[in-house]
Amino acid sequence: MKDAATTASPAAPACPAAPASPAALASLAALASPAAYAEAVATAVRAAAAYYADGATPLGDDEYDALVRAIEAYEREHPGEVLPETPTGKVAGGAAVGDVPHSAPMLSLDNVFSAEELESWAAGLERRLGHPVAAWCVEPKLDGLAVAARYRAGRLTRLLTRGDGLAGEDITHAADTVLGLPARLAEPLDVELRGEVLLTHEQFERANAVRTAHGATPFAHPRSGAAGTLRAKDRAYRLELTFFGYDALGLPGLDHGDLLARLAELGVGTAAGTQAAPRRCATLAEVEQRIGEIAGMRAALPFGIDGVVVKADAAADQERAGSGSRAPRWAVARKLRAQHKVTRLLGVEWNVGRTGIIAPRAVLEPVVIDGVTVTYATLHNPADIERRGLMLGDQVFVYRAGDVIPRVEAPLVDERTGAEQPIAFPEACPRCGDAIDTSEQRWRCVRGRGCQTVASVIYAAGRDQLDIEGLGGTRAVQLVEAGLVTDLADLFTLSREQLLTLERMGDTSADKLLAAIETARTRPLNRVFCALGIRGTGRTMSRRIAAHFGSMAAIRAADAEALAAVDGIGVEKAAVILAELAAVGPLLDRLAAQGVGVGVTEPAAAVTAPPTAADQGGSVGPLAGQSVVVTGSMTGALADLSRNAVNELIERAGGKASSSVSKRTTLLVAGEKAGSKRAKAEELGVSITTPEEFAVLVADFLP
Ligand code: IVH
Repeated sequence: MKDAATTASPAAPACPAAPASPAALASLAALASPAAYAEAVATAVRAAAAYYADGATPLGDDEYDALVRAIEAYEREHPGEVLPETPTGKVAGGAAVGDVPHSAPMLSLDNVFSAEELESWAAGLERRLGHPVAAWCVEPKLDGLAVAARYRAGRLTRLLTRGDGLAGEDITHAADTVLGLPARLAEPLDVELRGEVLLTHEQFERANAVRTAHGATPFAHPRSGAAGTLRAKDRAYRLELTFFGYDALGLPGLDHGDLLARLAELGVGTAAGTQAAPRRCATLAEVEQRIGEIAGMRAALPFGIDGVVVKADAAADQERAGSGSRAPRWAVARKLRAQHKVTRLLGVEWNVGRTGIIAPRAVLEPVVIDGVTVTYATLHNPADIERRGLMLGDQVFVYRAGDVIPRVEAPLVDERTGAEQPIAFPEACPRCGDAIDTSEQRWRCVRGRGCQTVASVIYAAGRDQLDIEGLGGTRAVQLVEAGLVTDLADLFTLSREQLLTLERMGDTSADKLLAAIETARTRPLNRVFCALGIRGTGRTMSRRIAAHFGSMAAIRAADAEALAAVDGIGVEKAAVILAELAAVGPLLDRLAAQGVGVGVTEPAAAVTAPPTAADQGGSVGPLAGQSVVVTGSMTGALADLSRNAVNELIERAGGKASSSVSKRTTLLVAGEKAGSKRAKAEELGVSITTPEEFAVLVADFLP
């Protein structure tokens, strides 16, 4: 990140793959005075120095880039005020040091942040060449540290950091820990390899496990881990790193793609062996496509990338274009949004999972990472919190990639103010109050799955599930604590005598509760299924599953493929539902023995419920083929219906109920205080109706 130059104007629009913030931040933070400029320079210099030392800077990559752009903009307007310490135009922001001269300068790369900026950069290059670029090469921008590895007669003799580009630090002592950097090449050549050293995700995890086992603090970031590891001399342990070569001195005349192939031949690691392999592209359109592909596979790559590098592939083009003092003119980095951000740890929540595992979750000051606002992050387990030495109020590094659950990596210890507080660990199960088994890394309620009983009974008895009136939180706790209910099926075995043993349970309440439970026995399949609390199956999905399979027996007989045939269930969700169904198998058997969920097929169940469109003469109803969304508060005939009941009504009338407005939505029922969904429907030209008009439309299907 510390390459303090960009080629394009700060006002250029950012494309989706580019950091959203830099251009925006830079214009927001337009430097209005010499004092603001001086402060920005000081901040950038401090950040570059911290980054170079160990990578743990409170300024994220995106913010640093934005700051440098603002500084550049100011310097363009006030050329007479440029401070000598400015990071602009300097390799490593001017922060790096080293005393071994490089055989040729180790250059940096200019950055672009959008397709438009890339296009104008390419046009500039072609103008300079006086002809179109012969071919492009597109490859990942590896998020590590640049090194130079000197070989004499095929033997590795010296390893250097980039330093300030002219001289670097000698880190030869670390050479034998770097995969991809052989002690001996396949041929006895005199060459100098240039490339990036990094910790792959696996190496990063392993490094942190080893470090914490040695009582050291874990690395906050793979790059700071790689930087620290390359420099460390007296560690009691050895950590493995990875090298990917992308350049070489001493192998002249090769086009870039051929150079990479030659490096691989010599036994050197390159990105060619990875999913994001460098690719030759004939046109800029192909280049853009490959950038999109590499950006898209970022989360799945086994190592971090912070951009995509576009290079003129032909040696002749490179030679003709030449280099500036800081960067070559034939290559440019298209930056991607940072996946690591710094934010504050506000609190820790302790959630009890269905198996009784008590898992800590970090509550964060909201931070946008790669376009998504992150408010929570996983903390794995209590031992992990201790290993990472986290405190409430800490500035922390948070990592988020693709669909991976964001995680807190480590605190920025140097940023502590003294106001940080220790994180309190629970002494009793936060859900049921019973003891915690702390013998394993992952803490667990001693009741295991049983801890869930109270919560699952309350859920199952809820209005949209079995709708058992009189069975709220207090009663559920009483029943479970008295040992009368250990799972949902026990509810249906309760006797009057048993109920009367409970405190504050008189004859009338007992009779009422028994009657409510009796009614629940005949609830339609979709509600019985929903009551099971299977992950990924809320009310809508339960209705779809019930309608699709028709009976509990058919649901239980379904394999993943059959489940995935239900609208809205993908392959992943099907696997989760299948596993959960297997886990509740014994419960389903016991429920079946009580006559719950058996014999009721979905259409038969509907006999006790209002008629369905199918009952009314086929699969057509007034809403056949419609995708309906309901928003705002309902009035008129719909006033007393829960949202779930309105959705059930839509489906009975032959329509599909959905919770969000999209292009596929055909009708929005907008009640009072309808907000963003109404606006979206208007924008998309979706028909909008009032609850009253809608009630007339579906009058035959009202409960
Ligand atoms: S080419 C003259 N290719 O990014 C060649 N650099 O921000 C200049 N980097 O200094 C470098 N992946 O440390 C090149 N595929 C790649 C790269 C790459 C990562 C680093 C390198 C460079 C920095 C610039």
